[in-house]
Amino acid sequence: MGNIFLSFLAGCCLMLFSCTATPEGNSSDGKRWFVMQHCDGCHGKSGAGGRAPVVKGVGLSYRGLKKKLRNPKSAIMPSYSTERLSDKEVADILAFLNG
Ligand code: HEC
Repeated sequence: MGNIFLSFLAGCCLMLFSCTATPEGNSSDGKRWFVMQHCDGCHGKSGAGGRAPVVKGVGLSYRGLKKKLRNPKSAIMPSYSTERLSDKEVADILAFLNG
C-alpha cells in the first residue's frame, strides 16, 4: 500500500518536472538551427549583429527567447511555430547563443 502511494507521488513529481523544466540544449545543434532557420541572415553570423540586434552572449533566458520566437510582436522578426522550431530546438539555439 505504501509503495503504491510512493510511486504515485514519484510519478506526479516527474510529470511536474518534465512540464516546467527547460529542455537540455545542445550548442552545436543550436548553431545549425540558427543557420537553417536563417536567423543569421538578420542577426548576423553567429548572432553577432547585422541588420538586427546582437543575440549572441547577451544572456537571453529560455522563456524570453521562446516568447520572442513564438510571438515576436514585430514587423520584421518572423514568428516560429512549434512545427518550425520545437521547444528542444529553441533550447539548442539558447545553448548556442549563451554558450
Ligand atoms: C527577417 C529578419 C529576422 C530573422 C530571420 C530573425 N530575426 Fe530575430 N529579430 C529581428 C529584428 C529586426 C529584431 C529586433 C526588433 C524586434 O525585437 O522585433 C529581432 C529580435 C530578436 C530577439 C530579441 C533581441 C532583443 O535584444 O530584444 C531575439 C532573441 C531574436 N530576434 C532571435 C532570433 C532567432 C533565434 C531567429 C531564428 C530562429 C531570428 N531571430 C530570426 C529580425 C530577424
